[in-house]
Amino acid sequence: MTASVIHAITGAFGYSGKYIASRLLDHGQSVITLTQSLQRPNPFGDRVKAIPLCFDDPQKLTQQLDGVNVLYITYWVRFNHRQFTYAQAIQNTLRLFEAAKHAGVRRVVYVSITNPSVDSKMEYFRGKAKLEKALAESGLSHAILRPTVLFGREDILVNNIAWTLRKLPVFGVFGDGQYRVQPIHVDDLARLAVELGQGSENVTVNANGPETFTYRQMVEMIRDELKIKCRIISVPPRLAHAIGYAVGKVVGDVTITWDEILALKNELLYVDTQPTGKIKLTEYVREHADELGQRYHSEIARRLDRNRAYV
Ligand SMILES: NC(=O)c1ccc[n+]([C@@H]2O[C@H](COP(=O)([O-])OP(=O)(O)OC[C@H]3O[C@@H](n4cnc5c(N)ncnc54)[C@H](OP(=O)(O)O)[C@@H]3O)[C@@H](O)[C@H]2O)c1
Repeated sequence: MTASVIHAITGAFGYSGKYIASRLLDHGQSVITLTQSLQRPNPFGDRVKAIPLCFDDPQKLTQQLDGVNVLYITYWVRFNHRQFTYAQAIQNTLRLFEAAKHAGVRRVVYVSITNPSVDSKMEYFRGKAKLEKALAESGLSHAILRPTVLFGREDILVNNIAWTLRKLPVFGVFGDGQYRVQPIHVDDLARLAVELGQGSENVTVNANGPETFTYRQMVEMIRDELKIKCRIISVPPRLAHAIGYAVGKVVGDVTITWDEILALKNELLYVDTQPTGKIKLTEYVREHADELGQRYHSEIARRLDRNRAYV
């Protein structure tokens, strides 16, 4: 990377944003974060200044992006909740695009999802498609990065599969479990984001890992690597969702949404393109077998307690 310029990341105290910030700092770049979680511990200390993300004040938002060369947007919500909605996330992200344009930001890297579609039945995938379209039409130089499912230390899905395997004698996959997934390590995503931030062409890139599993194979692999005795059975998706809901009530979280089950079953977390990730989930699980799934990772806890670091 050449001379240091200012890179702004939404949510550098969160999950993927933290890895993007870390990579940029390693390259000697200047990094700021725009965040609504100012009280979360800052793992970077003085090296990353945190600025409040003022979605409600477009003028201030533009001022805050003044001098920023590349803006990385990880901001999104995982589901609708009484305190946050997809509709708000879409509106806020559109404001961010607008502010970036007015501030003269050179490049926007937008973290989306594999297989978004404006016609999708799933609000998550519809919302992402709408934002991708808006970014493409904004006139901003941009890269759209479409991850499958992420894994890494702070991850939710893989960790909580391991947690469930550790806690219960039986693990239910949704239906036959034969739908494919290509998990990508969060640091591979960060590498791609940083590379794309340096370019100038408008591109859309899938962020898919080097291994393809069926969902059932992935759960079996995690069980076997962790040397756990747990039976894996097929459960009708509606029943599995109801069980997930009940477990969520016990742990005070939303364990899995119906849209996420549909996305898995419809292979929306699978793409037919060359893998862009390098780190294998199998190796990651093997190397982290002692810690993986020892604690439940709660999405709701992250949202409701903005004073604590993830994990
Ligand atoms: N995790 C995955 O497996 C996965 C898979 C595919 C695509 N993606 C995409 O990757 C991007 C980053 O995901 P991530 O897993 O790295 O997420 P994350 O760090 O947990 O969230 C990104 C940022 O969004 C803000 N945020 C998240 N939920 C929010 C809520 N309910 N209300 C208000 N702000 C919220 C937080 O910003 P503050 O710092 O301001 O609180 C957070 O730092 C997202 O666009 C997601 O759609 C993730």
